Amino acid sequence: MTKSAIIGSAWLMLVLTAAAQTVPAIQLPPPAKEGGMPLMQALAGRHTSREFTSDPLPLQTLSNLLWAAFGVNRPDGYRTAPSARNWQETDLYVFLADGVYLYDATANLLQPVLAGDHRAAAGKQEFVKDAPLSLVYVADLARMGDAAPEDKALYSAADAGFIAQNVYLFCASEGLSVVVRGMVDREEVVRLLNLRSDQKVILAQTVGYPKK
Ligand SMILES: Cc1cc2nc3c(=O)[nH]c(=O)nc-3n(C[C@H](O)[C@H](O)[C@H](O)COP(=O)(O)O)c2cc1C
Repeated sequence: MTKSAIIGSAWLMLVLTAAAQTVPAIQLPPPAKEGGMPLMQALAGRHTSREFTSDPLPLQTLSNLLWAAFGVNRPDGYRTAPSARNWQETDLYVFLADGVYLYDATANLLQPVLAGDHRAAAGKQEFVKDAPLSLVYVADLARMGDAAPEDKALYSAADAGFIAQNVYLFCASEGLSVVVRGMVDREEVVRLLNLRSDQKVILAQTVGYPKK
């Protein structure tokens, strides 16, 4: 990351913390990095599902899922998903029943963004408001240096796709339901999260337990 991107991220964290003082940060338990299904079985089982119970995910599962999605997997800060030029421009906004949080992969922490249940704002489909977790992938184009606008658009979409596939495989391994979604009201998310014009809502993804 460039120096200005690091300063930008630190500033964003400060603003977020000030804006969400009513909901505390959540320190996630260390992710379990062993176990799970053999990769080929997870690939064989990967599929989209749009039926969820409203049961919350345990914090350990959330931690494991976020680490699988885009956690830090090497001492030098590199991540479980690749990103163009290692810009790491994708922010994961975590919509839970009690608030919206930003995944801080380095601290393994959920930084509070907004208190309250805003899950309905994370998608247009009926199941989104009741499923326990929606992730919204937001690309911070300010971290992508002086790349051409069309390259920023292309690479940020590709980078979010890798993260979404990690989540798909984690869910296949854990028996969770999951759907990645382009259907998200981007303007509403921008308004809700008070995003800058160079923060782009790329995709959303909903996760929960399957209905029996
Ligand atoms: C970029 C992208 C956007 C998608 N958007 C939606 C969506 O908004 N709503 C939805 O229900 N499914 C969405 N899907 C899921 C696809 O419909 C699903 O992946 C496809 O039908 C193939 O099924 P499979 O994932 O089980 O292989 C999206 C998938 C991708 C890759």
